[in-house]
Amino acid sequence: MKAIEFDAYGEPADVLAVADRPVPEPGKGEVRVRILASPVNPSDLLYVRGHYSGVEPKFPAPVGFEGVGIVDALGPEAEGVVVGQRVAAVNGKGGNWAEYAVLPAGSSLPAPEGISSEQVASFVINPASAILMVRHVLAVPRGEWLLQSAAGSELGRMIIRLAQRDGIRTLNVVRRRESVAELEALGADAVIVSTEGPIDEQVHDIVGRQGVKYAIDPVVGQTGTDMFKALDEDGRMLVYGSLTGEPIRIGEDPRLILSGRRTLEVFWLGYWLPRLEESGFYPPGTPANSQLGKDIEALMRDDILVTSPGRAYSLEEVGTAVAQAESVGRNGKVLLTVPDTSQAGTT
Ligand SMILES: NC(=O)c1ccc[n+]([C@@H]2O[C@H](COP(=O)([O-])OP(=O)(O)OC[C@H]3O[C@@H](n4cnc5c(N)ncnc54)[C@H](OP(=O)(O)O)[C@@H]3O)[C@@H](O)[C@H]2O)c1
Repeated sequence: MKAIEFDAYGEPADVLAVADRPVPEPGKGEVRVRILASPVNPSDLLYVRGHYSGVEPKFPAPVGFEGVGIVDALGPEAEGVVVGQRVAAVNGKGGNWAEYAVLPAGSSLPAPEGISSEQVASFVINPASAILMVRHVLAVPRGEWLLQSAAGSELGRMIIRLAQRDGIRTLNVVRRRESVAELEALGADAVIVSTEGPIDEQVHDIVGRQGVKYAIDPVVGQTGTDMFKALDEDGRMLVYGSLTGEPIRIGEDPRLILSGRRTLEVFWLGYWLPRLEESGFYPPGTPANSQLGKDIEALMRDDILVTSPGRAYSLEEVGTAVAQAESVGRNGKVLLTVPDTSQAGTT
């Protein structure tokens, strides 16, 4: 089978290549999935660059943490799915940028009927992060402001729509004025452009001198630094990405760390998913991961946690796909697709 791999950390367009590998056999408790499509997410690219500490690659290392496919074979004691079933495949070790992937049975979630494979390909990482950050970790109350950066990202757009559903006001930071009208049309309450003046000053002009109680930031660098300055004295900010790769300087204005109790906390889905049961986020009874899955499905059916489709590329076009995924002002999520040679299970 064809599988995308890398031999050493580096720029994705330089180090990723298609390799010819034997079709993998599922072991105990594992399933083999014939991949239909896999998104190019920022976490895949951080991983290839060696900036993703949650997973250690063993070179030559496979890539691709998320995707959609058809269950093709079951290992001994694999439960919860059947051969021929369409599933959302979360591959914690990477490996979905291939024709086949082997993963734990519990990481292949039966795809809800009537939801397109394009949406199922991005069923978990961004939707689960939106729900967990807004509703559970920050638990933003109705009527409050939520400040977020990279608001034009696929996840940022989900958060705008989710916040609107939950009665939360969003104050959105983008880097280009062209994004403003589009996000306002999506339901953003306010949009500011980071290049048009210090973010904290622009935030204070909108919400008042006290600042905001809740913020989420995947950009870091000067954006994260200025967002921290926009927090009120009890404000909490979740950092959940590193799009600039630069540091946040929380002491840049010493007055902000010599008063109040502002907090900066890391959010990583890979930390929370295995801890959902004991997190207390969901009522006991039904397993917490299936409650989260049901929430995602319902919010996807309501067009809230949906991903805008972007360009699709074959595995051989991976170099172009990863460049396109990081192009400024890209429209929609880039997908790597594998031609579907069988119609089995495509409900
Ligand atoms: N911690 C977690 O568990 C977790 C889970 C899911 C996602 N994430 C993070 O969430 C973020 C968004 O993910 P996504 O899939 O929605 O991404 P995406 O659709 O690829 O969007 C990326 C966005 O980031 C903006 N951007 C890129 N580089 C930037 C920079 N240097 N300065 C400012 N803005 C920049 C782009 O702005 P333009 O529109 O101007 O090009 C674009 O809107 C990523 O950082 C990802 O790693 C984290």
